[in-house]
Amino acid sequence: MGTFAAIAVFVYGLIPLAFGLPPIWRQPEQVHLSYPGLPGSMLVTWTTLNETDSVVEYGVWGGKLFELSAKGQATLFEDGGFEKRKMFIHRVMLTDLKPGISYVYHCGSDAGWSDMFYLTALKEGADWTPRFALFGDMGNENPQSLARLQKDTQIGMYDAILHIGDFAYDMHEDNARIGDQFMRQVESIAAYVPYMTCPGNHENPYNFSNYRHRFSMPGNTESLWYSWNIGPVHIISFSTEVYFYLNYGLDLLFKQYEWLQKDLEEANRPESRAQRPWIITMGHRPMYCSNADKDDCTQFNSCIRTGLNNTDPPAPGLEDLFYRYGVDLEVWAHEHSYERLWPVYNYTVFNGSKNEPYVNPKAPVHIITGSAGCRERTDPFVPDFRAWSAFRSTDYGYARMQVFNSSHLYLEQVSDDKNGKVIDSIWLVKDKHGPEAWL
Ligand SMILES: [Fe+2]
Repeated sequence: MGTFAAIAVFVYGLIPLAFGLPPIWRQPEQVHLSYPGLPGSMLVTWTTLNETDSVVEYGVWGGKLFELSAKGQATLFEDGGFEKRKMFIHRVMLTDLKPGISYVYHCGSDAGWSDMFYLTALKEGADWTPRFALFGDMGNENPQSLARLQKDTQIGMYDAILHIGDFAYDMHEDNARIGDQFMRQVESIAAYVPYMTCPGNHENPYNFSNYRHRFSMPGNTESLWYSWNIGPVHIISFSTEVYFYLNYGLDLLFKQYEWLQKDLEEANRPESRAQRPWIITMGHRPMYCSNADKDDCTQFNSCIRTGLNNTDPPAPGLEDLFYRYGVDLEVWAHEHSYERLWPVYNYTVFNGSKNEPYVNPKAPVHIITGSAGCRERTDPFVPDFRAWSAFRSTDYGYARMQVFNSSHLYLEQVSDDKNGKVIDSIWLVKDKHGPEAWL
């Protein structure tokens, strides 16, 4: 190359830097899975900074690599921060997967492919034992439980992960770069099993836009509320935040309430409940907690439990609704601690019996597991035990759940501080489900 040509190339190379043009970046990142609710399906979501095609190539584990392929679409997401950063969120639905069979996949396009990951198609029907990890409040700084969750997930301990709100701390920060970082961190678990979510208060900036754009839950509510079935369980995920960010519209609260009612009605039809007897709800901010702070759950009339009186019309709470439709288990987070409640309704304990409180309980059981780890550390408890509180811990950790059949559900809390020790466990045993179980 002559001197003139070399200078020209050098100067040309400087132009993008001088004008601050962003680099071209077509490499897929932040790969994660969700279950779209359709047997034999799985949805793969990822991000690129520049526009590319959306392709997943896959094949049965041990078979011919990438012999199958599926195409999807990308949507442009513009962050609300001052840089107005843009990225493309790709979504590809895999269908006709064989139940219980593992597949190797990568995603991207001919402009760049991700690492290879594997997924296992969920089994079909209700007659199997789904296994879950569940937690809330995991940040990109101090995500203390993540390493243990990575290993658990990669050795195949879970069929799905439930992240009960509050991600990254916070996804919108640094012009959504914190969201990018966090989604890269959780790829190590979320690219292998469905990573099912609900929104928390930390997702609120720019009307929850990072949450709504980055996740791909079933239904058409941009992941705000939805339900899905897995084994003998119907899981309902919803937004507690519609009770707190009324600036985004009181109508959302009522829309969600109506949807919850309809979904519960449907799930309680005799044929539905016979097939999927367990109804489990997941929402971020709990109705009850005994933490030493001023959060909603420390108030007797918490908004989530009893609703809002200062709106027109007044907004109904959720305790009555969930009780009326015989919800078996309610899982929460927000408090950076673990608390297990006795079966409770309206601040009254309804244990199954003195010796076996969780055998045929006469009210829903609540678990709060929000200590996965974040920059805000853990939340202490008030010194005295509440009558409805059975066990509590401020260790970092997460919960595991297995639903064995129509009558037996097992729950345990893992302490990361205690090197993976199970610090609490219960068997929830029910001969009957639905509101008649309370009688
Ligand atoms: Fe929270």
